[in-house]
Amino acid sequence: MEYKHESTNEFLRIYANNIDNKDRAGFIRASPSNCCIDILDVERNYRGLGIGTHLLRQMERKMKEAGCNTVNVKVGRSDSFTDPPFSFYEKNGYKHSHPWWKRVVWPFLNWEMYKNLE
Ligand SMILES: CC(C)(COP(=O)(O)OP(=O)(O)OC[C@H]1O[C@@H](n2cnc3c(N)ncnc32)[C@H](O)[C@@H]1OP(=O)(O)O)[C@@H](O)C(=O)NCCC(=O)NCCS
Repeated sequence: MEYKHESTNEFLRIYANNIDNKDRAGFIRASPSNCCIDILDVERNYRGLGIGTHLLRQMERKMKEAGCNTVNVKVGRSDSFTDPPFSFYEKNGYKHSHPWWKRVVWPFLNWEMYKNLE
């Protein structure tokens, strides 16, 4: 897997590319001005291989370099049939910004999580 970084004033982007078959395996995008990750997506046939974790860790490092002390992410359903990947972010050290009961009452909203960077 090859990880390709791209930076502009507006966005930081990292692409995970399978160099053997030129597939795009995953992508993460963040805005350094509001310290927020707005896209993280790993293609279905590449999930569960650690690519999402790797993209997230690399992006946290880039955001720290860009002056962010905290990373925020909005976590929701990618479609109506899948659960939001809260535990993926919890495993990566993220905490919920809102109490659990709000997520139960409004399950289809995107809920913010955050992590303080060391
Ligand atoms: C969520 C997502 C980015 C995870 O990427 P990934 O490369 O499959 O994740 P990893 O292989 O690094 O998984 C790391 C851990 O998170 C867990 N995890 C992965 N996807 C998960 C999900 N959808 N829900 C809950 N836990 C998940 C794994 O079980 C794994 O745990 P383990 O180490 O104890 O086995 C990927 O499933 C995805 O793109 N989903 C659809 C889009 C989406 O929901 N994006 C997030 C928007 S906020």
